[in-house]
Amino acid sequence: MSAIIEAEKLTKIYPGGVLAVDRIDLSVQEGEIFGFLGPNGAGKSTTIMMLVTLLLPTEGKARISGFDVVHDRGRVRKLLGYVSQDIAVDEFLTGWENLLLQGKLYHLSPQEIKERGKEVLEMVDLWERKDELVQNYSGGMRKRLDIACGLIHRPKILFLDEPTLGLDIQTRAKIWEYIRNLRSEHKMTIFLTTHYMDEADKLCDRIAIIDHGRIMALGTPLELKRSVGGDLVTIQFQENGNGIKEEIINSLKEFPLVEKAQEKDGKLLIVTRDGNTAIPPILSQLHDLGAEVQSISMKRPSLDDVFLFYTGRQLRDEEASPQDFYRMRMALRRAKK
Ligand SMILES: Nc1ncnc2c1ncn2[C@@H]1O[C@H](COP(=O)(O)OP(=O)(O)OP(=O)(O)O)[C@@H](O)[C@H]1O
Ligand SMILES: [Mg+2]
Repeated sequence: MSAIIEAEKLTKIYPGGVLAVDRIDLSVQEGEIFGFLGPNGAGKSTTIMMLVTLLLPTEGKARISGFDVVHDRGRVRKLLGYVSQDIAVDEFLTGWENLLLQGKLYHLSPQEIKERGKEVLEMVDLWERKDELVQNYSGGMRKRLDIACGLIHRPKILFLDEPTLGLDIQTRAKIWEYIRNLRSEHKMTIFLTTHYMDEADKLCDRIAIIDHGRIMALGTPLELKRSVGGDLVTIQFQENGNGIKEEIINSLKEFPLVEKAQEKDGKLLIVTRDGNTAIPPILSQLHDLGAEVQSISMKRPSLDDVFLFYTGRQLRDEEASPQDFYRMRMALRRAKK
């Protein structure tokens, strides 16, 4: 299957010489929720703007459904919806009037606007408030209206630049629900940028980590986490006064899935590439060696660890603080083990 969004060495140098996007290669499959995760100034919005034909690349190529973003702009624009980072709705109009305007820009008939306008407003829970002026809407409502406006022409691909920036937890969760729904019920491909780790982790099929205009890592959230370090399994034994025997630790080290095994504070710590697969044979080995297990727990590295590992800085800050450097060192140390 060919990719619905493709970029080859896509590059943007702004007048004045800022290299905002540096030879990015991308390939997003139809129906994917693809996330671009990066700190301020990483080049996320610039990449999106080139893909949606609002900014000319300095070098490189991008195609949407096979159409070139420079030479086939008209065709590309019909296929996509774009919700910019800054809220673009007109606050002196009502919610409905905003949609009407958007529908007209896409040359939809009055009948189509009526039908689809209702559909998209219901989708974002604004149907009841459609006749109120947007200046009376909350930030979350404005963003939802913005998303509705990006959907009125039923795009195949939706580009969302920071769809949940600055919104409260409940509104963010609601927007995630809409995004998932767009993919599952409307088979839409979604390309989004975000600062939020949890969002990228829960929502995206694949994530590209971008920093200084370059893709530093790309994969499913799980692949990215695994690339940094394995699962950490902690096993506590029944009290028997003997401590954990060398024999146990040495025998576990021979397991192919076990990368590291050591005793810490009377507990057995095991680093493994895949905890789910490794735990059953570990338990049966412990049983054979006569060790009685009291409890077992498993922790995965977070996307935070992944981000620090690949970019060397924390996501929300432009410059890392001394504390961030400490965390980065810890993450790197963990990853090297
Ligand atoms: N119009 C412009 N002219 C010159 N430089 C620009 C322009 N727009 C963005 N830049 C620079 O390009 C780089 C990438 O900016 P961009 O807005 O793409 O980043 P971003 O990842 O979207 O950041 P944020 O998370 O803050 O939205 C930054 O260094 C920024 O200062
Ligand atoms: Mg941006």
